[in-house]
Amino acid sequence: MTSEAPRKRRIAWLPGDGVGVEVLEAAQIVLAKVGLDADYIHGDIGWEQWRTEGDAFPQRTIDLLKTVDAALFGAITSKPAKIAETELVPALRGTGLSYRSPIVRMRQLFDLYVCLRPCKAYPGNPLNYREGIDLVVFRENTEDLYAGVEFVPVPADLSTTLAKLSKPFAPFKDLSGDDYAVSAKINTRRGSERIVRAAFEFARRFGRKKVTVVHKANVVRATDGLFLETAREVARGYGDIALDDANIDAMCMWLLKNPFNYDVLVAPNLYGDIISDLCAQMVGGLGFGCSGNIGDTLAVFEPTHGSAPKHAGQRKVNPIATILAARMMLDWLGETEMASAVERATAAVIAEGRVRTYDLGGSHSTLEMARAIADHL
Ligand code: IPM
Ligand code: MG
Repeated sequence: MTSEAPRKRRIAWLPGDGVGVEVLEAAQIVLAKVGLDADYIHGDIGWEQWRTEGDAFPQRTIDLLKTVDAALFGAITSKPAKIAETELVPALRGTGLSYRSPIVRMRQLFDLYVCLRPCKAYPGNPLNYREGIDLVVFRENTEDLYAGVEFVPVPADLSTTLAKLSKPFAPFKDLSGDDYAVSAKINTRRGSERIVRAAFEFARRFGRKKVTVVHKANVVRATDGLFLETAREVARGYGDIALDDANIDAMCMWLLKNPFNYDVLVAPNLYGDIISDLCAQMVGGLGFGCSGNIGDTLAVFEPTHGSAPKHAGQRKVNPIATILAARMMLDWLGETEMASAVERATAAVIAEGRVRTYDLGGSHSTLEMARAIADHL
């Protein structure tokens, strides 16, 4: 009897723009070598689609994502609203289009509620802040201040209601709607519960000892209070794993002071965004920060860095963040052996230090780095 051959995977291939294109080329070299049996289907996304179609994340790409097992995403340029408007093709200018970050939309549209950001100091990386750092950030990925519920100018209805319901609103109640703005921070019990649970499940699976909840519940009492309270409830089901919590500001200091006191971190969306950049910088910065946007049926993997327009086209940026994102994708697809192989190969190239991109003090190209990793597979 033979076991069933694994099904050919469908992977959406979303280079985006800027260096996104180059780092995905690099990831392709590694994925081809590791032998993932997959169709890679290109999806249009990014600045060019914004300019020419008025939508950086067109419907056809949304439709593509409905049909795939996973996606690898590069990076996308974003610019302030006014500049974005001036770069539209003439026919689209003045039509009321406004630029919205495609990755944020994607996370919400496909309910990719877990943002998983491992930050590990690979031995031999000259950019390590300290050797041995091995942190994992779980960032809630769909709600919080990213909910997109924002008002500028503030409508009179809203101001009247807030004046009625909230005492602290008194100093603002007579302002003209044009003179202030409101962004709603919305956190749900369900959203908080599932991200905290994901962090604890991960801790259990990988033998991690502690989960630290990052918040600001002493000031932002309603939303962060709910997040923290929910985390405490979830933690009761995981007696083998310690629960700890800290305010976001103090956390930034303590992480730098003693990164070894922390293990798995879990946070609402915006604090997770902030803390994950800090953690990434401790293990080499943009060239090493990788990210999984994970839902129940779809996951999109990406380097945490942006499109770095000033480096675009030079094939000089470090592709390791993207190769590690591809590694996370393999893991999520259940290809754990391939994932481990990519991890070992990447670690080996870092440790040898012979092939290094500019951020590591070398002059090797994006693709040379990818080939060096592929050669180890
Ligand atoms: C990230 C990025 C995004 C975010 C930007 C590009 C919208 O900073 O993935 O961390 O804020 O989530
Ligand atoms: Mg960020």
